[in-house]
Amino acid sequence: MKYKKIIQTTLKSNYVNVQNDMRTSYMTIDKSLIDIGDKLQFNLYVNDFLAHMSLYLQSNSVIDEEHKKSLMEIERLYIDKKQKSEYECFIEKKLQDTVENEQLSLKEKADIIYTSASELTSSLYENPNALENVQRSKNIVEPILQTIIYDESAIKSFIKIIEHDYYTHTHSLNVSIYALCLGSELGMNETKLSALGRSALLHDLGKSSVDLSILNKIGLLNHSEFDRMKKHPSLGYETAINIGIKDKNILDGIRHHHEKLDGMGYPDGLKGKEITLFPRIIGVCDIFDALTTQRSYKKALCSYDAIYLMKTHMHKHLDMKIVDTFIKMLHE
Ligand SMILES: [Fe+2]
Ligand SMILES: [Fe+2]
Repeated sequence: MKYKKIIQTTLKSNYVNVQNDMRTSYMTIDKSLIDIGDKLQFNLYVNDFLAHMSLYLQSNSVIDEEHKKSLMEIERLYIDKKQKSEYECFIEKKLQDTVENEQLSLKEKADIIYTSASELTSSLYENPNALENVQRSKNIVEPILQTIIYDESAIKSFIKIIEHDYYTHTHSLNVSIYALCLGSELGMNETKLSALGRSALLHDLGKSSVDLSILNKIGLLNHSEFDRMKKHPSLGYETAINIGIKDKNILDGIRHHHEKLDGMGYPDGLKGKEITLFPRIIGVCDIFDALTTQRSYKKALCSYDAIYLMKTHMHKHLDMKIVDTFIKMLHE
C-alpha cells in the first residue's frame, strides 16, 4: 500500500534506538485528534515491526496531507511521557478551537470535543491530587457547556456519542455531559451549569484510590470490598478540598452522589431535603450511565429498560422530578 511506504520511509529516516525496557515511558494518544495544519510541540513515535519505538515526527512539525494519510495506516501513536503537558496543552487548545470553528458540523464538533475531553479526563483521573486539576476540570467542562448553550441540538449529538465501554474517566465525562444537558433542561444559569459539569466530572475522583481488583470485580463485592468501595465519595471530597475546590455545590455533588432520598445511601445516610440539587442530578445521571454501559460482568441495558428500572425500582432513592426531566431530555 502507498501509505505503508511513507510510514516505512519515515521510520527509516527517523529511527531512534530506544531500548524495549524504556517503552514504559511512552503513552498512546488518540491519533484522530491530529489534523492537517496542526503544529505539534511534541515528538510523535510509532512502534516498528520489531516492537522498537521509533520517532515518527519531530516536535515543531506542521501536519500536512501526507502525514494525515499516513497516520491512517498507523495502529498506535505514542508520545514520550515527559512531553505529556505539551500534549495536554495541544488538546486544550484543540478543544477551544473546535468550539469556535464555524466550518465544522455539530456532529464533527461533538466528536472532537468528546475525544479531546476524554483524553484530558483520563489525565485527571490518573493523577487526582494534581493542583492543576481545578483548572483542567474547567477546561474540559467549558467547551462542552459553550457548545450546548450555543446550539441546543448539541445535546442530542453528545448523547449519541457517549460510548458504552467502561472506564472511570469516560464514565465521569459521560455523567458530566448528561448533567450539563439535564441542568440546562432544568433552566440553570451558565455559572451554575459550569459548577455542575465540574462536580459531575470529578464525582468519582475517590475511585482512583480504590483497588482495580475491586473496581473491576466480576460478581458481587464482599463486605470489606463494599466498605472500601463506599469510601470513594468521601475520599473524592477530601481530594477535591486538597486541590483547592471550595464551591459547596461542587463538593456536595462529589460527596453525596450515592445518598438516597430514604436515607439508605452513603457515606452520610442523608435523607430527603438534606440531599441538595447537585447530588440529586449527578445521582440520576450516574445510575443511568452505569446501567446503560457494558462491563466485563454485565450487559448494557437499553435506555428504555434503564429508565423503566429507575422509575419502578428506584423511586425511594432518586428524585423522580429529575428522572422525569431526564426522560423528557432523552426523548426530545
Ligand atoms: Fe460514585
Ligand atoms: Fe459514578
